[in-house]
Amino acid sequence: MYKKWFLLISTLIAGFFLVACQSSSSNSQSALQTIKQKGKLVVATSPDYAPFEFQALLDGKNQVVGADIDMAQAIADELGVKLVISTMSFDNVLTSLHTGKADLAIAGISATDERKEVFDFSIPYYENKASFLIRKGDLDKYKDLNSLASASIAAQKGTVPESMVKEQLPEAKLVSLSNMGEAVNELQSGKVDAVHMDEPVALSYATKNSDLQVANVSLTMNEGEANAVAIRKGNEDLKAVVDKVIQKLKDEGTYQTYLEKAAKLTEVEQ
Ligand code: ARG
Repeated sequence: MYKKWFLLISTLIAGFFLVACQSSSSNSQSALQTIKQKGKLVVATSPDYAPFEFQALLDGKNQVVGADIDMAQAIADELGVKLVISTMSFDNVLTSLHTGKADLAIAGISATDERKEVFDFSIPYYENKASFLIRKGDLDKYKDLNSLASASIAAQKGTVPESMVKEQLPEAKLVSLSNMGEAVNELQSGKVDAVHMDEPVALSYATKNSDLQVANVSLTMNEGEANAVAIRKGNEDLKAVVDKVIQKLKDEGTYQTYLEKAAKLTEVEQ
């Protein structure tokens, strides 16, 4: 009896999605044409990840800045449209592509195989590593993986550094938080022993907070999970433009320049 209902309901749901997908793909306009027509490129990000994306006080205004944001601007310029940054917690960034709220997701996103099943990714623009941010003075305490094995470790919800802790330190007490800043606060107030995040971000937090530093021990990151721009599957023409811009930034070393500019801006980080 239950099985029948289950079948019926799942068929209905599947049918609904099929119709929904068909109607969006039968839409004759390509992603690129729609963006150009709207005159704006909406980019989803989670601005708690300096030097990639963060909030800073510029000209008396709180603005979203960072290397990824400069790159987003370069993409919008290439398209000849206005850039609109849509901020949300990281665990909502990729979802916003699905719901059509954003055209691109740029948030220091690692192009993992799992994510590649659901989204398309641009060519990579930055090679990443992950690090533990710890309290100054704990450097000797957390010097090998053994010492971290039963520690309490915070990580950002839905991120690669979070799953690395789950997989490589299964005995640790993992505290998953949606906001990176909140995780760092927990570390400063002694509620967790370490925070796991991408290395440049850990270094940036350590530079800003004299009570924190980056541990000498780290977990292994899967090969080929560099940062890339996430795009809805099938938006081929948009992907071509994004790839073209990134290739140019790479050839000219511009992303590195963006990172240096971002490092300076962390002085006015909010
Ligand atoms: N690189 C990691 C991932 O893709 C973390 C990204 C977090 N980004 C952010 N803006 N908070 O899972």
